[in-house]
Amino acid sequence: MNIDTFFTDHWKEIEPERIARYEEMFVWHDAQRLLVEGAEIAEGHEVVDLGTGPGFFASGLAQIVGSSGRVHGVDINATFIESARARFAGQDNMTFHHVEDHKLPFAKGEVDRVICKNVLEYVPDLAATLAEVHRVTAPGGRAHVIDSDWGFLVVEPWSTETITEFFQAASPAFREPYIGRRVAGALKNAGFARVQVKLSPFVDQSGRGLNVLRNMASYIETFDTMPKARVEALLAEVEQSLAEDKFLFVLPQFLVTAFKE
Ligand SMILES: C[S@@+](CC[C@H](N)C(=O)[O-])C[C@H]1O[C@@H](n2cnc3c(N)ncnc32)[C@H](O)[C@@H]1O
Repeated sequence: MNIDTFFTDHWKEIEPERIARYEEMFVWHDAQRLLVEGAEIAEGHEVVDLGTGPGFFASGLAQIVGSSGRVHGVDINATFIESARARFAGQDNMTFHHVEDHKLPFAKGEVDRVICKNVLEYVPDLAATLAEVHRVTAPGGRAHVIDSDWGFLVVEPWSTETITEFFQAASPAFREPYIGRRVAGALKNAGFARVQVKLSPFVDQSGRGLNVLRNMASYIETFDTMPKARVEALLAEVEQSLAEDKFLFVLPQFLVTAFKE
């Protein structure tokens, strides 16, 4: 494990248990349509889902574009792409592409929309990635990013200092943990004419947020950036608050729409 490149390496090679966990986590819910409202995806549109993972989000987008449109799922993980191809083999309006780096397999101005959900915190070169997004988007088209920003995280019962300590220990898993607040400026730098930012609340009292914390704890164990006993004590504190119905996990999603002239 190379800690300096872990943020991208851990997506290229994913152990089977993690693939299975993601396949459960990333299922499409109709309520997610709200996350892409700003993109104004319409029937017949050609859409790229950059960082598609198992392809479930792409399948939701495929329902919106209908049979006259097409969704291209793109990912650096070859296993995700193979499984998405198999899973959606009968769906004529979906295509999946494996990529090695930021270069996208589309011509200049070829697509109407590029959607990118919870991916940009992991890309090695944000400017190069967004330059590609801008290149493939048609004039009049839009790029639409959905992403979090770890600085906005609330985990009750943890103090602000504890949240910072925990996420600092897990931070080699991300290239840019504060992507939410930074992506609008980066899209402007990439040449988009106008960029609009909205926030969507994500509030969990049921314990789904605990899975995110467990994921972080597994990264921390890999990096050995915090004593194991401390990590276990912190998770136990969260589990206790969940049992007492006092747990709260809040992580707003930034919805950032960029317009190309
Ligand atoms: C947190 S998952 C999100 C999956 C999906 N967008 C969703 O929200 O359901 C991040 C995805 O981005 C992919 N990814 C990471 N870095 C990438 C890159 N440089 N180019 C393309 N995909 C990338 C990962 O392989 C993974 O499938």
